[in-house]
Amino acid sequence: MATLIVVGSQWGDEGKGKIVDLLAQEAQIVVRFQGGSNAGHTVITKRGTYVFHLVPSGILYRGKLCMLGNGVVIDPAGLIQELDHLIERGVKIGRNLIISPRAHLIMPYHKALDAVSEEAKGSRRIGTTGRGIGPAYADKMARVGIRIGDLLQPDVFRQKVEENLVAMNRHLHHVYQADRFSAEKICHEYLGYADRLRPYVADVSALLDRAIAQGRHILFEGAQGTHLDIDFGTYPYVTSSNATAGGACTGTGVGPTKIDGVIGVTKAYTTRVGEGPFPTELTDEMGEALKTRGQEFGATTGRQRRCGWLDSVLLRYAVRVNGLTSLAVTKLDVLDGQSELKICTGYRHRGKLYKEMPADLTVLRECTPVYERLPGWSMPTTGITGYKQLPMQAKRYLARIEELAACPISMISTGSRREDVIVLHHPLTGGRMRSLKRHSA
Ligand code: GDP
Ligand code: IMO
Ligand code: MG
Repeated sequence: MATLIVVGSQWGDEGKGKIVDLLAQEAQIVVRFQGGSNAGHTVITKRGTYVFHLVPSGILYRGKLCMLGNGVVIDPAGLIQELDHLIERGVKIGRNLIISPRAHLIMPYHKALDAVSEEAKGSRRIGTTGRGIGPAYADKMARVGIRIGDLLQPDVFRQKVEENLVAMNRHLHHVYQADRFSAEKICHEYLGYADRLRPYVADVSALLDRAIAQGRHILFEGAQGTHLDIDFGTYPYVTSSNATAGGACTGTGVGPTKIDGVIGVTKAYTTRVGEGPFPTELTDEMGEALKTRGQEFGATTGRQRRCGWLDSVLLRYAVRVNGLTSLAVTKLDVLDGQSELKICTGYRHRGKLYKEMPADLTVLRECTPVYERLPGWSMPTTGITGYKQLPMQAKRYLARIEELAACPISMISTGSRREDVIVLHHPLTGGRMRSLKRHSA
């Protein structure tokens, strides 16, 4: 496979950064296609811990091209800060970074609107990351967004800011009693960023087209997760972009016929940050144990992640809407030491059994999950790199995930470090996929 999309199968934070970093060893290009600095992708190497918000998780290798596609929303101040931190830590940033001129900008008023609208919603708030993501995508769809390409043309940029502020200031002030923004101040600040970002701006779609024709290996790095997708997630408790595989095409300018595979990253259990329904959420000691053992605190906002059992209804849906060709199961080690594990196989609501993900949030909120119980294991799995070394119960647990999700597992992550992984089948360079049953044989 030369072109591979990596997506989250749950509510984000599945370990996409780790998986992308690992696969990037065999790729020449890594491209982000949606989301913005709401993402927090952690990569742990011998040189330390890196948390990427906008920069693709392939940047730590020399000689790899990292791109931000048109579907990404870019906060230029945040991006420059991230680049500066990386440079300080010895990462080379130069011709290895490409930004699409079609990517939209996050403006200061987007962040302000994100904050005040969340506050006004009260108990109905979404629990956003406060990075201005929703308002920036709303402007894009309303055709008043300002793009990276506009930033490079001071007159065009100034005019768009002035035009937008007429309505935006009125809205901020009259609806939310918030402070107004000055066009002059924004232009002064942003046109400074323009000089810094100009060298990186190039046609991402055209470059990817050429790379695909040359048979280069390309990773499309998803942010967030399937159930945070604006169309397929638990709307309205979602982000404002298509975090599912289709977003990789519209967010980079690569046609669907050029995509060879899609890998879905899933934790061995489930987590969620922010508000919204979560049928398998655990508010008991087991939930606490997952939070503590899994270090479940958001990489972007530091908020505690809600934790629960693995939900195969969510997972099967992710296999379907993304067309997943394989799964990467992460954080298996976090389940070490549990005598019993549970996997949700359906939702029961008012006498009806749901085996497929319902669109109705009331069902998700009120349902009782139907669980299958499986034996746990006591042996530590942290750092195991060979499938055969896994305890028999862990193999059974993984095989059951494969069966319930109806998708083969290609990778199993057994720790946060780069090298803590079992690669059953390399999604970029491997041949034919085999099921876990054949690996056990
Ligand atoms: P992403 O947003 O999908 O890239 O995931 P995050 O980086 O936000 O969160 C995943 C967290 O789990 C990070 O702190 C990773 O270092 C950590 N992690 C990833 N894989 C594993 C694993 O297999 N075991 C353990 N214990 N931690 C992992
Ligand atoms: P990565 O890429 C987990 C959640 C927020 C909130 C909702 C909307 O690290 O997996 P937004 O700021 O996007 O308008 O917030 O989406 N959210 C994430 N949760 N991981 C992420 O990214 C997330 N990005 C957004 O917590 O519930
Ligand atoms: Mg994250």
